[in-house]
Amino acid sequence: MTRNHKLVARFGTPLYVYDLEKVAASYRDLRNSLPSGLIIHYSLKANPHPDIARALREASRWPSCRAEVSSVGELAVALEAGYAPGDCLYTGPGKTESELVTAIAEGLRRFSVESLTDLERAGSTAVRMGTIIDCLLRINSASAKAAATSIRMMGKPSQFGIDSEDLPAQLPKLRSVPGTRLIGAHFFSLSNARDEDSLLSELKDSVITAADLQSEFDLPMQVLDIGGGFAAPYAVPGERPVYSRIRMELGATLDANFPHWRSGMPEVICESGRYLVGDCGELISSVINIKESRGNRFVIMDAGINTLGGMAGLGRLMPLAVKLDNSLAPDGSFTSADESAATLVGPLCTPGDVLGRNVQLHSTDVGDIVTVPNVGAYGVTASLLLFLSRPAPREVVVRGDEVLNVSQLRVRRAAAGDADHSPASRGRAGIT
Ligand SMILES: Cc1ncc(COP(=O)(O)O)c(C=O)c1O
Repeated sequence: MTRNHKLVARFGTPLYVYDLEKVAASYRDLRNSLPSGLIIHYSLKANPHPDIARALREASRWPSCRAEVSSVGELAVALEAGYAPGDCLYTGPGKTESELVTAIAEGLRRFSVESLTDLERAGSTAVRMGTIIDCLLRINSASAKAAATSIRMMGKPSQFGIDSEDLPAQLPKLRSVPGTRLIGAHFFSLSNARDEDSLLSELKDSVITAADLQSEFDLPMQVLDIGGGFAAPYAVPGERPVYSRIRMELGATLDANFPHWRSGMPEVICESGRYLVGDCGELISSVINIKESRGNRFVIMDAGINTLGGMAGLGRLMPLAVKLDNSLAPDGSFTSADESAATLVGPLCTPGDVLGRNVQLHSTDVGDIVTVPNVGAYGVTASLLLFLSRPAPREVVVRGDEVLNVSQLRVRRAAAGDADHSPASRGRAGIT
């Protein structure tokens, strides 16, 4: 019996399995790809499982991994995972007063702000709470590049960041918001860069733009967040890219533009979600039914877009084109491939519940399990978890063959008229 079969026998399906050994390895790889001294922030949006956040914090020696959070739910996880509030950066274009109050009360003092009004709200909240917060101005740089990714976040009209061409006119106001101290700039131009060339060119561009902003407009630059874009395969087999040039070439660009950055002036930081945790996770699901319809074979799984990739339909992730690592016979051996392709669908009552078309499945029967690889990032967290009110998948954390934890998100249902805005809670399912 393979490890996955043993896990399915104990915990059922659909089941996410996260391997902390892989989390540590990806942190090491990213660390080694970057100039030393550059500080990595783990973006909890990729996977807010506390054990994963903790594993990244523990995987890292100086400079240790920090956290990028975009909600009080992510902040709560980061703190539970042992990140100090001072090691957290709070981002997002729609911060409410109540979340600002919570974040500041928890001790967080570093925010990325995306507009003058975002800064003013953060500042007035800080003043009321008798403190001053440090703010990075997120910049929507005007330099539009050819799309080097499916997810571009700069160089076009956007809710993210202050348009760079408006910055000179806005700066006097931005500098004088009570309760805030401008400490630098934040760029996040793309996610999942196509290749090392495009990634490197975006990162270098951000460094050069930051240096220009500092010299032309005297923008404070104690902290420079160059963003990310580090790639990882999503729901298809494959390996994380190995970046062989970023360390030297980005280091040289930083040296040329910020000669004292290696001694922390400015402190240079970056953000990564999918690269750090994408390959640590796989989704195991069971075949519930198989149906022929007008010459097409539909394999109906117990995992649908409520379990994986619901955001794909919103254009936020790459369209799901699930490829399976294998389909295992009950004894754990690989079954022989039949050549027929199937449409892999979930159990939901919507024609949108498709995980993959033309998926080559090994000979498959009801009760077989299939495994979708590389879904440690944007798996559960990017799914339509509440749609049709099915239970959340279980999430098992392992280190190699050892099971460390099993949990299942419990999303409380509010009674009519009683809105419940509490973050989803994670129930311990208990290891039996
Ligand atoms: C501001 C910001 N930081 C970090 C990330 C994480 O991106 P990724 O998971 O591709 O590393 C995102 C993703 O959209 C983002 O918007």
